[in-house]
Amino acid sequence: MFFERPEGGETSVLVHIDLDSEREQEDPIEFEELVRSSGADPVCFIKGSRKTPDARTFVGQGKLEEIAAAVKEYEAALVLFNHALSPSQERNLEKALKCRVLDRTGLILDIFAQRARTYEGKLQVELAQLQHTVTRLKRGWTHLDRQKGGVNLRGAGETQLELDQRMIRQRIKNINKSLEKVRAQREQGRRSRKRAEVPIVSLVGYTNAGKSSLFNRMTSAEIYAADQLFATLDATLRRIDVPSFGEAILVDTVGFISHLPHKLVEAFRATLEETSQADLLLHVVDVANEDHDYYIEQVHEVLTEIGADEIPTVQVLNKIDLLDGFVPRIDRDDQGQPQRVWMSARTGEGADLLLQAISEMLGHDIVNQHLTLAPDQGRLRAKLYARGAVTAERVDEQGQVVLGIKMPRADFERLLQEDDRR
Ligand code: GTP
Repeated sequence: MFFERPEGGETSVLVHIDLDSEREQEDPIEFEELVRSSGADPVCFIKGSRKTPDARTFVGQGKLEEIAAAVKEYEAALVLFNHALSPSQERNLEKALKCRVLDRTGLILDIFAQRARTYEGKLQVELAQLQHTVTRLKRGWTHLDRQKGGVNLRGAGETQLELDQRMIRQRIKNINKSLEKVRAQREQGRRSRKRAEVPIVSLVGYTNAGKSSLFNRMTSAEIYAADQLFATLDATLRRIDVPSFGEAILVDTVGFISHLPHKLVEAFRATLEETSQADLLLHVVDVANEDHDYYIEQVHEVLTEIGADEIPTVQVLNKIDLLDGFVPRIDRDDQGQPQRVWMSARTGEGADLLLQAISEMLGHDIVNQHLTLAPDQGRLRAKLYARGAVTAERVDEQGQVVLGIKMPRADFERLLQEDDRR
C-alpha cells in the first residue's frame, strides 16, 4: 500500500498556526493528542500566528526556516500540520523541508485507518485515503518510490506517477463495488432488526473515551458465534440482554474527532447512519480528561450534523476509577429519567447501573402488562403470539384468557385498534 501513514514512532515536528479567522481555528492541545493517538513521536512543537495562510507554503518564510531547522536538528521524518493544506502547499512544503508533510486531514485519516474495526469501516477509510492521495500525487518528496520495495511493478514506458494514478483509480473502483455490496447487506440486516423490533443502542463518543472497552464489557458474556446474522455483517453489532427489559442490540461506532473534515463525514455517512437510526444513544465521556466538557460539545456538533441530536441519550461518565472519591451513580432529571451514569468500563463498577438506565430508557415506551381477552379475540391472541409479545397465559375464574404482554407501546396500541376495526 502506498498510504501516507506515519509508521510507529516516526519522529515528528508539529506545526500549529493561530489564524485570525475563528472558523479556521484548530485546537493545539487536541492536536497533540491526535498525534499521540496516531502513534507518531512528537519531538518539537512549533507555534506561530498569521492573519491568513500563505498561498504557497501556508506559513511565511521565517517560520519555514524555523521548521526546516527543527527537522534537521531532530532528524525528523515527518512534519505534521494542524491545518488542512492544499495539495500544492503540501508539495511546496515537502520540497522546502525535504521531508514528508502530512496535514490534519491526512493525520485523522491515518488514525481512522488504525481504528477502523469493521470491514466496511476499513473500506471507507481506504477510499477516503485514496481520494486524499490521488490529488496529491505530484509529490515534492518521493516517498512513494521508497515504499515500492524491489518489485518491478512498472509497465513499459509508464512513469511512476501514471502507474500510481492508474492503480489508485482501479482500487477506488474496486472499493466502491465492495462498499455497495456491504451496504446492501447492512440495509437488509437493518430491516430484519426492525422487523424483529429489537431496539438499537448506539455507543457514541470522542475518540479514546472508552467506547470499545465498554462495548466489550457489556457484551463479553455473549456467545458471539451464535449470533450469525451479525457475525458476518458487522463485528461491532451485538445482542445484549438488558435485565427487566429484554434484548437490545449494542452498536459500537467510530470515534468522533472535532472539526471532522467534511469529506470524512461524507465518507462515514453510512456508518454514522447506524447511529442516527438508534433508539438510544450512550454518549461515552472520559471524565478523567480535564477537557471533557469541550469534547462533549464536539460530539454534539457531529451528532447534529448527522441528524442524531434528537435521539434520547444517556451520558456515560467513564473512567471514574481514575478519579478520587467517585462512586458509581445515576443522575436523574426532574422527571426521574436517567441522564448520566458514572462508571468505569475498566473495573466494571457501575456497569449494573448503566444496564438499569438502559432498561428504564428503553422501557419507557414498552408495555408490560396483563390483557384479558374476550372470547372473540382469538385473532388478536394469535397476532400477539406471532410477535413474540406474550410472556404468560392463564385462564381466570370466569374462564377468560389473560395474557402477559411485553412489547413496544406504539405497536400494542396499533394492534388493539386493528382489532377494534375487525
Ligand atoms: P476510539 O476507538 O478511538 O473511538 O476509542 P474508544 O472510545 O473506543 O476507547 P477505548 O475503549 O479504545 O479506550 C481508550 C483507552 O482508555 C484505552 O487505553 C482503555 O484501556 C482506556 N479505558 C477505557 N475505559 C477505561 C476506564 O474505565 N478506566 C480507565 N482507567 N481506562 C479506561
